[in-house]
Amino acid sequence: MDRQEAEKRIEELRREIEEHNYRYYVLDDPVITDAEYDRLMRELITLEEAFPDLITPDSPTQRVGGEPLPYFEKVEHSVPMLSLGNAFSEEDLREFDRRIRRTAGVDKVRYVCELKIDGLAVSLRYENGVFVRGATRGDGQTGEDITQNLKTIRSLPLRLRRPVTLEVRGEAFMPKGEFQRINAQKEKRGEPLFANPRNAAAGSLRQLDPRLAAERALDIFLYGIGWMEGEVPKTHAESLRFLADLGFKVNPAWRAVERIEDVMAYVEEWRQRRADLGYEIDGVVIKVDDLALREILGTTAKSPRWAVAYKFPAEEAVTILRDIEINVGRTGAVTPTALLDPVTLAGTTVKRASLHNEDIIREKGILLGDHVIVRKAGDIIPEIVGVLPERRTGEERPYRMPEYCPECNSRLVRLDGEVALRCINPQCPAQTREGIIHFVSRGAMNIEGLGEKVVTQLFQAGLVRSVADLYYLKKEDLLPLERMGEKSVENLLASIERSKQNSVERLLFGLGIRFVGSKGALILARHFGHLDRIMEADREELESINEIGPKMADSIVTYFAKPEVREVVERLRAAGVNFSFKGPRTEEAAAESPFAGKTVVLTGTLKHFSRKEASERIEALGGKVTGSVSKNTDLLIAGEKAGSKLRKAQDLGVQVIDEQTFLEMLGQEG
Ligand code: IVH
Repeated sequence: MDRQEAEKRIEELRREIEEHNYRYYVLDDPVITDAEYDRLMRELITLEEAFPDLITPDSPTQRVGGEPLPYFEKVEHSVPMLSLGNAFSEEDLREFDRRIRRTAGVDKVRYVCELKIDGLAVSLRYENGVFVRGATRGDGQTGEDITQNLKTIRSLPLRLRRPVTLEVRGEAFMPKGEFQRINAQKEKRGEPLFANPRNAAAGSLRQLDPRLAAERALDIFLYGIGWMEGEVPKTHAESLRFLADLGFKVNPAWRAVERIEDVMAYVEEWRQRRADLGYEIDGVVIKVDDLALREILGTTAKSPRWAVAYKFPAEEAVTILRDIEINVGRTGAVTPTALLDPVTLAGTTVKRASLHNEDIIREKGILLGDHVIVRKAGDIIPEIVGVLPERRTGEERPYRMPEYCPECNSRLVRLDGEVALRCINPQCPAQTREGIIHFVSRGAMNIEGLGEKVVTQLFQAGLVRSVADLYYLKKEDLLPLERMGEKSVENLLASIERSKQNSVERLLFGLGIRFVGSKGALILARHFGHLDRIMEADREELESINEIGPKMADSIVTYFAKPEVREVVERLRAAGVNFSFKGPRTEEAAAESPFAGKTVVLTGTLKHFSRKEASERIEALGGKVTGSVSKNTDLLIAGEKAGSKLRKAQDLGVQVIDEQTFLEMLGQEG
């Protein structure tokens, strides 16, 4: 096939595939078999491989692909993405209706009722019918560019059925079935579960690696036009039909009504039917249909006056509390957890509920064996609302908190002013284990495949006693463990290896220093640029940083003064874990740095650093390290036995310093 023929065939195939995609994922009405679809797709891939310059971003082959991003670009929304005011009762809805009729001076208003999909608001931009960019809502003005991840959603058209230019808004979400599949998979791997489908959808769309996002089957409903070129529909109902005609997936449950009683009936109908849907809804959205009337009603700073979200009340269920389990956290705090007879609540099975502390058990009058009401509101962890004393049989027993740590048997104490009991034995295995779980968690070193279960397994096998041990694990250590196959061991070791490259704020947060949260860690990393500088800093220097208070400063100094901490740090260093900050430095820190914007070359043997360490330190301070001296070199650092590079630098008149001066520039004594 020559190029011209290929071009023609590629175009045909793309149209055909998009059409079948639409029939399958949007209309749920496929007209060909999966095998036929695969054949078309394979033909397209083969042709595109033969003529790679004909690949365009809107080709169906480009849904999954692309390299991992370093971060998401910011996107300014052409029209702000507002949020909705809430209504919680029938009275709230009546008030909404009265206000609109009063403002508009009319008797009757037409509303469109829609389901409120529990996912993530997104904005999609199409130019001449081609999907060019998708963004999160962000703060409403500026969101993040998640185009690559959105492309993996099969029901999102890469090309529309007409060449329009517009921005549409909708909700990306994870269907219930997919949510269960992913959580079951996570459970098997011992990873922490997603609390609900919305968090799972958000987690997937925020993946920097689109291949990971592609592993999660998300879906999308579009519900509005943000902005468009050309003639705009006059009513919301028309907009919804227009969007559907363009090939978008529009939720079919919408209904136009003219009386507030009909709104109420719609709410009630869907409150009852919500459990049968394949996706989560958390309420109903009521919108004025007439777009000209919307203009008159206008918006407040945060939300439009022409729409309201009716939120379903939090779901509750009754179950029996069988027992109370005690967990010792990373800081030694002891928390009771209720073990419940499994019960379905808002789409997930609930077996446990946190009781927070002893006082709550007493205040709520909870006995072991009680019938309890559990509630789950949105993404909040299930909680016990109260007990049903009338259902007691006399068999119920009061619960007593233990006096000794269930893990290490040391006496639990209640520190001044704290409600929680604490285990204050620093050697308590529970604390160490929880500390490691924190270290590997997503917000910290983000070691995939290392969840609570696997850490516990490693800990119990005696393979890991501190976070540094993770970096010395060998294949032979892991293979004998239960549920560890060749492949999972390889994956695990690879993700441990990958985590060595993390920017240092993740490490700093992962160490679990008291009062140093992820934000504090980022501030420190940005300011100092390197873990060594943070460890050397005294209270005064730490406190001089904006946003670092005396409590955090004190905690950091105390922490790094401990010999056992120093030992862990040195073992992490020896394993090759990165200690420097990889993001942009704060302006003040960068401006102060003697290396900012400088091109530096290292030569000879340094006594205090390896080449790699010295480079990291310079780069952390905004400098660039290159391998050879040229007229662009600003500085040569010459260790002992420096040779030809030193001579060349001298010839070119490049500034040369020795190791001692280098140390001084780093603010470090020799
Ligand atoms: S309309 C200007 N319709 O609910 C109002 N929102 O705060 C634009 N949502 O951020 C929103 N389903 O993420 C609208 N059918 C629906 C919706 C919906 C879910 C979300 C959306 C928005 C939030 C309301």
